Amino acid sequence: MLAPQAERVMALGEWEQRWQENRTGFHQPTVHKMLEKNIDKVLAGRTGVRIFFPLCGKAVDMKWLADMGHSVVGVEISENGIKQFFEESNLTYSEEPVPAIPGAKVYKSSEKNISLYQCDLYKFSSSIEGQFGAIWDRGSLVAINPGDREKYSSLIRSLMAKDCRYLLDTLLYNPELYNGPPFFVPDEQVHSLFGNSCDIELVDSVDTFEDRHRSWGLDYLTENIFLITPKE
Ligand SMILES: C[S@@+](CC[C@H](N)C(=O)[O-])C[C@H]1O[C@@H](n2cnc3c(N)ncnc32)[C@H](O)[C@@H]1O
Repeated sequence: MLAPQAERVMALGEWEQRWQENRTGFHQPTVHKMLEKNIDKVLAGRTGVRIFFPLCGKAVDMKWLADMGHSVVGVEISENGIKQFFEESNLTYSEEPVPAIPGAKVYKSSEKNISLYQCDLYKFSSSIEGQFGAIWDRGSLVAINPGDREKYSSLIRSLMAKDCRYLLDTLLYNPELYNGPPFFVPDEQVHSLFGNSCDIELVDSVDTFEDRHRSWGLDYLTENIFLITPKE
């Protein structure tokens, strides 16, 4: 089932172009239902959690969590997307270079604890911001090139603190019918990517098929939500 999309590659420039042309159909104007529903599992009673958003786009979930007193770090290649996030959230921000990542910039909210790194995700590491107590992965594992999944999972694993609670959103559909992104990520692959060092629990599975997915050529679309935690 992985074969139809195995060779698919989206260059970083293609993502940046999508932002320039406002082709950002992945963006949701409200807090993601699955994050909202499972937030207690992610926080597990903790306050002031450091939460990582890989491939953050301008997800409004970041402001929602920061408003609750958590701190948010995101990584996004599109400067456009990052600026739109701050502007649409009515947050002022500063902008500075990141000496450890040539060419990268970090945008920091002046009012909230939100720092967004504008760079290729694979240039980011725990040496920049340490490890995280939570990760919200929506539109990230499903958006990276399928051939990069091992590299991605080892980076994510290296960013997880011992008490990290990683909420992962994947999509199941027939990959022979649609090219992606978002790409198809079967449950077995979630287990092969993270199962060696993490416990994996499927916390939700919802039929997420809408009319617009018919135009992708699909006949079903299931969203699976996993809670991934480091093994003791
Ligand atoms: C499908 S969108 C999801 C955005 C966000 N997580 C959301 O739920 O709205 C994927 C985002 O990742 C960014 N992106 C893709 N590859 C990247 C990479 N290697 N490093 C950093 N950002 C990347 C794209 O510009 C795009 O904004």
